[in-house]
Amino acid sequence: MNAYSIADLRHIAKRRLPRAIFDFFDGGAEDETTLDANVLAFRRIRLAPRVLVNVAEIDTTTTILGEPSAMPLAIAPTGAVGFGWHDGDVAIARAAAAAGIPYTLSSTATASIERIANAAPGRLWFQAYILRNQAYLHALIERAKVADYEALVITVDLPVGGKRERDFRNDFRVPFRFTPKNVLDFATRPRWLGSLLAHGMPVMENLRGLEAEAHSAHAIASSVGRNYDPTFDWDRLRQIRDLWPRKLVIKGILRPDDAVRAVDIGCDAVVVSNHGGRQLDGAAAALDALPFVTAAVRHRVPVLLDGGVRRGADILKAKACGAEAVLVGRATLYGVAAAGEAGARRAIEIIKDELVRSMQLCGVTSSGAVGPDVMFKGVLPPRC
Ligand SMILES: Cc1cc2nc3c(=O)[nH]c(=O)nc-3n(C[C@H](O)[C@H](O)[C@H](O)COP(=O)(O)O)c2cc1C
Repeated sequence: MNAYSIADLRHIAKRRLPRAIFDFFDGGAEDETTLDANVLAFRRIRLAPRVLVNVAEIDTTTTILGEPSAMPLAIAPTGAVGFGWHDGDVAIARAAAAAGIPYTLSSTATASIERIANAAPGRLWFQAYILRNQAYLHALIERAKVADYEALVITVDLPVGGKRERDFRNDFRVPFRFTPKNVLDFATRPRWLGSLLAHGMPVMENLRGLEAEAHSAHAIASSVGRNYDPTFDWDRLRQIRDLWPRKLVIKGILRPDDAVRAVDIGCDAVVVSNHGGRQLDGAAAALDALPFVTAAVRHRVPVLLDGGVRRGADILKAKACGAEAVLVGRATLYGVAAAGEAGARRAIEIIKDELVRSMQLCGVTSSGAVGPDVMFKGVLPPRC
């Protein structure tokens, strides 16, 4: 495959997908300032390579949430992947398993909890949105428990949906509704359309039961939107802690005080994240927030990060600022939308190759040895 960077995969995905689908994956909220800031925050950090180190052997292996991983990378939950590639969720989960890194299944995935567990033999985490229908939410959590998912990831930055204007302009919503505008758009990508017609419209398999609450099949999108619970608070999070005996991860933290509160009520890890710039536009870049969160958490639990990771060196930078590991959303989405499972594998391979090369060029031979001093300002008085 002629893709040497995540940007190349993005380019291929853009050519293959109808505009509405590409924009849904690629876009962010409002002016997309947070989306851009996530990437720019990584670009701002300069590294301080240590020279004359024997870097013939590089060990990227590590632990994430106490279990082994081939590198400090996991897959972030992303919904509606099936619109990019038929069975795209399975493709990404299988690519993650092959690479030896954890995979997170979204509540709004187009493959069910059980289908992923059967298809992908690797480490699996399940991400839950907080639905108004508590019985339904609890049933989802129970299904993840029965299917042996290792961790439950609760996303807390979506009390309501962000304002994603590209989707409005393109008449795109999930589940999908045909309109004259998007039908015209789809017609520009006949190969993609052929696959959609052959396999049928992707369905949010984990939320099937909620269809009953919609007025019609076409109203499911608003039904799901209506079912996110804006009243969810710390007390309810405590209840979920009691329901789930395994690792509980809170995703969508930017403030140190929120991170400490999550740890205090027994969460096992936090993910510093702004939902890839798709929720509050103007929110801090994830990497900028990270050092404040890690300082407040003081190693009581692992701190992960997502948002803006496009290069292997970004993993070094996040680890230098205290993250145990990073997650990627769009990187593997672009890969799967470009070429299915092969594309998702290629995305992970590109990041790993860049990580190894960056470690060699920085004179760091193991993941565990990456510290603040790989950053240029880290070799000066330490201030992350
Ligand atoms: C198309 C798309 C769908 C997403 N769906 C979900 C989701 O269902 N649940 C969730 O917690 N986060 C979701 N996210 C956010 C990601 O988990 C992650 O926070 C974000 O993509 C990280 O930024 P990056 O794309 O720059 O790597 C989604 C992101 C994208 C791009």
